This record gives sequence, structure tokens and C-alpha cells, in this order.
Amino acid sequence: MLPLENRRILTAAFGEEDKDFEPKLRPQQLDSYIGQEGVKENLKVFIQAAKQRGESLDHVLLYGPPGLGKTTLSNIIANEMGVHIKTTSGPAIERAGDMAAVLNSLSEGDILFIDEIHRLNRMIEEILYPAMEDFVIDIMIGKGPGARSVRLDLPKFTLIGATTRIGLLTAPLRDRFGVVQRLEPYDIQNLKTIICRSAEVLQIEIDGTGAEEIARRARGTPRIANRLLKRVRDFAQVRYNGEITGEVARFALDLLEVDRMGLDFIDRKMLMTMIDKFEGKPVGLDTLAASIGEESETIEDVYEPYLLQLGYIQRTPRGRIVTRAGYAHFGREPKEA
Ligand SMILES: Nc1ncnc2c1ncn2[C@@H]1O[C@H](COP(=O)(O)OP(=O)(O)OP(=O)(O)O)[C@@H](O)[C@H]1O
Ligand SMILES: [Mg+2]
Repeated sequence: MLPLENRRILTAAFGEEDKDFEPKLRPQQLDSYIGQEGVKENLKVFIQAAKQRGESLDHVLLYGPPGLGKTTLSNIIANEMGVHIKTTSGPAIERAGDMAAVLNSLSEGDILFIDEIHRLNRMIEEILYPAMEDFVIDIMIGKGPGARSVRLDLPKFTLIGATTRIGLLTAPLRDRFGVVQRLEPYDIQNLKTIICRSAEVLQIEIDGTGAEEIARRARGTPRIANRLLKRVRDFAQVRYNGEITGEVARFALDLLEVDRMGLDFIDRKMLMTMIDKFEGKPVGLDTLAASIGEESETIEDVYEPYLLQLGYIQRTPRGRIVTRAGYAHFGREPKEA
């Protein structure tokens, strides 16, 4: 059986079922990229300025939770600049030679996109420092006492790094990005717009309440919104006349056990465990993990962020607690201390 996380329809991580349709749903221009107004505004200025000067764009670091549009935005930047983009990722570059080869293959103005850049190993990262700063690489020729270092010029390229874990980036690497932008979860209105746009691309009929119902349960994440849209479409086709209305969306999402705030059975189990088993007292991460049968890291990286964002739980020095809003989700009230 698959690990629980992989079977979870609400995971923000990219999965098998997203493979076919995600590329189709990616906006290609800044204007069709919905939301993230501040980020877009900044990028527009930087892009226009670079183009006017006929220079390459400054190095850009994009960070934020999975599924919010980092990869999409990187490709849009390349389109807007009218340059080629070469894509790789932290874990894919295993040896210094791989990094040198990638850098060497770039042309003037090209974008090098490194996804999960926090996973680059330290030695490879160090090759990037002079490459980003002075557009040169130092490579070692030969071995042993006769070995010598040769400096090679690189074309002026733009590095775009993406990461879900900015805290894991080393300071010297982070400091070499001229533009650092954080992507935020989307509000209901923007998610609704994304859902309607995706429905149009996929030729799915949907009305405003249907889109809103899906948006409310998508955890602020376009990837989840698109996935839910696809699942709800199946219900609309088989059980109704094809159109997604509020009623169809509610029916389908209830069956999929995604509740009205976008919580699923694991979220509910975690909250109920904290409320009933631990009687609302602060719970340590490891204790909580053990009692619901999950890894501590999974709770921290996958389940907890959305519950924190909703304000349903809080981290205190003594452990996690469920807030009044968290209790209210289940129609309960915290016991008076
Ligand atoms: N602003 C947006 N407007 C419209 N659609 C979007 C937007 N952002 C993301 N999407 C949709 O969500 C999907 C996931 O986005 P993307 O792959 O860019 O996320 P990511 O941040 O790179 O995720 P990961 O951290 O897993 O790499 C895209 O295929 C696209 O369809
Ligand atoms: Mg990505």
C-alpha cells in the first residue's frame, strides 16, 4: 500500500495524477498568472528594466509552500524575457562536473532554473558563487600534484532558484540573489478565478457557486484546486448532467471527505486527538506523531502549515495546542482551565 501522504487527495506535493494536466493549465504570461500581485508587480519592473537596458535579469529566488506556482512563474519569466530556460534541480546535480556542464551549455541571456535549490550539496553550491557573481567558473584540470585550476568565462545568464525551504539555504547562496520573492497562499477569490480559468482550458462547465465551493476547500493552493476540479468533474459527468454546480461540488467533495474548510481525515484525526486524548493541553510534536501514527517531519511539513494558517492550532513553547477556532470547527468549546 502507498504511504498515507501519497493517497491523500489534498497533498500540495506534485503527484502522479497531476502529471497529465498540470502542464496544460500553466499560464504562460504574467497577465494570466493570477494573484501574487506584489510579486508580479516587482517582477514586471525588473523585467522591463532589464529589457530596456538590454541586459540579463538579476538572479531570482522564489520560495514558498509546494503548489503555489514557483515553477510556473519561472517559465513565465523566461517567456516575458524572450529567452530560453534550462531546467534542473538540486538533487539532479550530483557532481561538480554536472554543474559545470550545465553552466557551460548556457547562452547569453538564458535562464537556468534550479528547482529544490536547497538540496544542492555544498561543494556544488560553491561553483555557483563565482558563476552568479562574476560569470566565471573555476575548473580543475588533471589530478594530483600536476592539477591546476582554470578559469572559464560564462555567458551572462540568470539563475532562478526555487525552494519550499528557504531556511535550509546557506547565507552565501541566498545573498547572491538580487531578487528574492515569497509566494503566499491564495485567497478564495483568486482560487475561484484559477478554477474558472482551468475549467475553460479543460472544457468543463462550472458555475460561480461550484467554483467557490471547490476554492474554499483547496487550502490556498492552485495545484489542489485543479486536482479537486478534476475529481469533481468526474462526479458531475457520472451523477449529474455534466455541469459543476455548488450542489455537485458539495456532494463530490463530501464523498471525498474533504470538509468545508478543506480538512481531510488526517487533519481531523490530529485535531480530535489533541482535543480528546490530550484534553486540549499542549502536546509535543513527537508525542502527537506517535499517537496518530505519523512521522514528526510529515506533521511539521505537510499537515501543520495549513492548520496554523487557518489559526486552528498554535505552537507554544510547551507544545501544540488547538485554538478556540479549532474547537469551533467541530462545534466544541475548550474546557476552562
Ligand atoms: N498564479 C497562478 N495562476 C494560475 N494557475 C496557477 C498559478 N500558480 C499555480 N498555478 C497552477 O498550479 C499548478 C502548480 O504550480 P507550480 O508547479 O508552478 O507550483 P510550484 O510552486 O512549482 O510547486 P512545487 O513546490 O511542488 O514545485 C500549475 O500547473 C498551475 O496550473
Ligand atoms: Mg515546482
